[in-house]
Amino acid sequence: MSRDIWDPQVYATYADERSRPFFDLVKRIAAVEPEYVVDAGCGSGELTRTLKDRWPDAAVHGFDSSPKMIDKTPVDVGLTFEVADATTWRPDRPVDVLVSNALLQWVPTHRELLATWVGLLAPNGRLAFQVPGNFDADSHRLIREMCQAGRWRSKLGDLPRERPVDDPVDYLDRLTGLGCRVDAWETTYVHLLQGEDAVLKWISGTALRPVFDRLTEAEAQEFTQELGEQLNAVYPRKPYGTAFPFRRIFVVAEK
Ligand SMILES: C[S@@+](CC[C@H](N)C(=O)[O-])C[C@H]1O[C@@H](n2cnc3c(N)ncnc32)[C@H](O)[C@@H]1O
Repeated sequence: MSRDIWDPQVYATYADERSRPFFDLVKRIAAVEPEYVVDAGCGSGELTRTLKDRWPDAAVHGFDSSPKMIDKTPVDVGLTFEVADATTWRPDRPVDVLVSNALLQWVPTHRELLATWVGLLAPNGRLAFQVPGNFDADSHRLIREMCQAGRWRSKLGDLPRERPVDDPVDYLDRLTGLGCRVDAWETTYVHLLQGEDAVLKWISGTALRPVFDRLTEAEAQEFTQELGEQLNAVYPRKPYGTAFPFRRIFVVAEK
């Protein structure tokens, strides 16, 4: 994949909010002494590194389709990184733990990919992933409505996708059907964001990237101004900050 679908700088600003689901996910992986642990869509690799802390004897391997991210990740003993696309990546040995945090919502074929990934697991191997489940939230609804309205429609009308991810019960059903024992759940975190246009700033690093890719700088500014006003009305700034509920979906499947 050639273009970056998220902005590493903006993403890093919210490191705490974004790493919390990763830790909540990894906590539920009951693997004791895995030999080979993989982080698919590892981004800048900071979180991958924590997998090495959790399982010091494991070979931990991260991959991401963005060379910009992988170039920055210093390697260590037992810790390796590579540039690779999730849809075509294949390991050279069975995987004991395959983790994927906030990647699969970007992969339209992820439902089929789950079957491939289960096939890559060692006996008793675990597949653990987290995806945002907030596509019905006001922030996404407003982006969808703007993309399909008035002057933006010709450039952005085809962007909104149907159901990029499923509900926990659907993943449970799918992965149980693939012979796994499945633990699936959801959590809504209420992030408390600070500063002006807080929600707009948050989504400019992720959900708005595909929009920005289609617009000139001047158009992007106009789009964000219009969207920002609507977001501020829906997510009001209070003296303590802006509350931004964020639903996330978690799955740990054991083969
Ligand atoms: C939201 S970031 C999450 C990064 C990291 N897992 C974390 O939790 O901080 C999504 C990552 O997925 C990567 N990505 C998107 N599509 C991908 C694909 N098809 N194959 C591999 N990586 C992909 C992006 O480059 C980005 O680094």
